[in-house]
Amino acid sequence: MIEQTLVLIKPDGVQRGLIGEVIKRFEQRGLKIVGLKLTHADNDLAQKHYTEDIAKRRGEKVRNKLLEFITSGPVIAMVLEGVDAIENVRKIVGDTESKSALPGTIRGDFSHVSYSHADEKEIPVKNIIHASSNPEDAKNELALWFSVDEIHSYSRSEDEHVI
Ligand code: PPS
Repeated sequence: MIEQTLVLIKPDGVQRGLIGEVIKRFEQRGLKIVGLKLTHADNDLAQKHYTEDIAKRRGEKVRNKLLEFITSGPVIAMVLEGVDAIENVRKIVGDTESKSALPGTIRGDFSHVSYSHADEKEIPVKNIIHASSNPEDAKNELALWFSVDEIHSYSRSEDEHVI
């Protein structure tokens, strides 16, 4: 099924100069960028993105760290489109906890820290990317970060060989 999903290159990825490296990996897999911008999230957007549900699952402290981190600098927000894009993107990105992310994935190649280290130091896990985790989250997150007229439709020249 053709899906759209939200990817954020978080402040650590932007400040480490990884924008091109990250985008390259999605493009080479054949995923289509249909929305793209550099933007600095305010607290309202951050709270809607990292919902109370995260506090319930991971604790209020973790949510507060995530809110602080995502608003600390500009992020790249992008909409990627492709067959089973949500699952495909999360494979390219790797496990959410950097320590567990396999080499060859973005997080596995550019980060390594564990949740326990981050929690002990009271710092966020700087795992470079956020990627929507399921179709419902993707729908909500796309609507949060992009207006309808910021998402575009076009063909990639290699579509005939890829999809
Ligand atoms: S996921 O991938 O959406 O299922 O991620 P999830 O496990 O629900 O975690 C949501 C975000 O919380 C971050 N997280 C943590 N940070 C620090 N310490 C601990 N213990 C911790 N647990 C979860 C995790 O990096 C996710 O952030 P994003 O921005 O989605 O990567």
